[in-house]
Amino acid sequence: MKRIAFYFICAATFWGCSSPVKDNNGQIEYNETIKTILERRSVRAYTPEAIPPDTLDLIVKAAMAAPTGLDKRPWEFIVLDNKDDVYKYFQATGNERFETAPAAIIVCGNTDISDLWYIDCSCAAQNLLLAAHSMGLGAVFTAGFPIKGRMDAITEHFKLPENIVPLCAIPIGHPELDGKPKNKYDKSKIHINAW
Ligand SMILES: Cc1cc2nc3c(=O)[nH]c(=O)nc-3n(C[C@H](O)[C@H](O)[C@H](O)COP(=O)(O)O)c2cc1C
Repeated sequence: MKRIAFYFICAATFWGCSSPVKDNNGQIEYNETIKTILERRSVRAYTPEAIPPDTLDLIVKAAMAAPTGLDKRPWEFIVLDNKDDVYKYFQATGNERFETAPAAIIVCGNTDISDLWYIDCSCAAQNLLLAAHSMGLGAVFTAGFPIKGRMDAITEHFKLPENIVPLCAIPIGHPELDGKPKNKYDKSKIHINAW
């Protein structure tokens, strides 16, 4: 009898430790994508560890998988893959807070290709943030457009052509600190079948 009780306790403990995360009502199991989305948070402090070019390339690939109006893909990505270029960039554009990040990606829109460029590029930026998080990296969206001073500084730094507008700069690195995502779920914002 004692042996059965022992096995029962072991099994219950194992089940408790390995049971998957579920939604609030315990009905739907979270898959990896939902976990990535719910666990992402803005990360603004990074360790000095460099980000390999392949990793940055995969992050941009995820960004380019985003939906765009009429599938026009009106984006350009400036990838800063080393601390020196990142430092120079954030110094020049007045966002010194991020100057020690090991990498950064500037998401730009081509206004000649689509009037919806800022929406398309925002979708790409969100994919980028999620991809980074899914790989254990931290990142944060920092606005360029429509803040004139920031846009001018970025345009000047890279000598961007007139039709290329910087939407945002995203520093990327290994998070320096642990942190928790905010819980933003708000039922009062949901309108089922009517306003
Ligand atoms: C359009 C936009 C502009 C933002 N600009 C900045 C910025 O300039 N600097 C910054 O530190 N964070 C910026 N953020 C990040 C937000 O502050 C952050 O997403 C928000 O506080 C929610 O926190 P979370 O990302 O951890 O969920 C921006 C985010 C968005 C979507």
